[in-house]
Amino acid sequence: MPANNATSNPWLDGPRSYGRISRVLHWAMALLFFWQFMGMIVKIAFGLNPRDSWIIHTHPEVGFILMVLMVVRALWAFCNMRRRPSHGTGFIARCAIFGHFGLYVLMLLVPLTALVRAWANGRGFAFLHAIPIVSPGQARPEILHFINITRESTGMSVHGLLGWMLLLLIVGHITMVIVHQWIWRDATLNKMLGTPR
Ligand code: HEM
Ligand code: HEM
Repeated sequence: MPANNATSNPWLDGPRSYGRISRVLHWAMALLFFWQFMGMIVKIAFGLNPRDSWIIHTHPEVGFILMVLMVVRALWAFCNMRRRPSHGTGFIARCAIFGHFGLYVLMLLVPLTALVRAWANGRGFAFLHAIPIVSPGQARPEILHFINITRESTGMSVHGLLGWMLLLLIVGHITMVIVHQWIWRDATLNKMLGTPR
């Protein structure tokens, strides 16, 4: 039997499994997020700066790619909303829907706060130092203050704080997948591997 169901297109989501496009987006982005967080963990743990290490140096570029992929993924999820596997009803199902929604919100806000900061501090951001995304210009101290408002209380920028919150949510997400797959044995992981049971 095809991965989704007898009549469905394997590229689109189906009731028993996510389609190829959703799966590629999910796993490619998971890898890039791993790269992003490893870079920041290495940076903090060893006190490195971007010039010392490639994994840190690529942080803004990979972050921007993630933001673009996130927009494509959200649009694709919206188009496939009625086709994709249902989470069912009840408390656990609502937690899953809420958790996925939270991941989407943070996946957008984290890179967006970095770009707003690049605009507010006047430095701008050019992808690969070549394609202007945010033009450099005059600093906007009142916006910069707002975008760094958490610095005094937490020692982190809004970008950093939301970034670590995203990592926490991802850890929760992976923990729940493990619980579903190996404790409740309801083949949740198979839906994202394209091998529904
Ligand atoms: C989804 C993508 C991204 C994730 C998950 C992410 C995550 C993080 C995390 C966890 C930190 C560490 C904060 C700390 O020092 O405690 C950080 C720092 C940083 N990020 Fe990102 N980031 C992303 C995108 C971007 C983008 C697009 C840019 C630039 C355009 C950027 C620029 C920076 C800079 C300059 C820092 C160091 C200063 C700071 O703490 O804010 N990031 N990021
Ligand atoms: C080892 C890492 C990961 C595993 C094993 C994993 C596994 C899964 C599985 C099995 C599903 C389907 C759940 C269901 O429909 O009930 C899923 C969905 C989802 N995952 Fe992950 N995941 C991982 C990493 C990530 C990361 C890093 C993110 C984002 C930051 C993420 C975001 C999502 C979202 C938003 C969904 C909902 C479906 C969608 O819109 O793509 N996952 N994941």
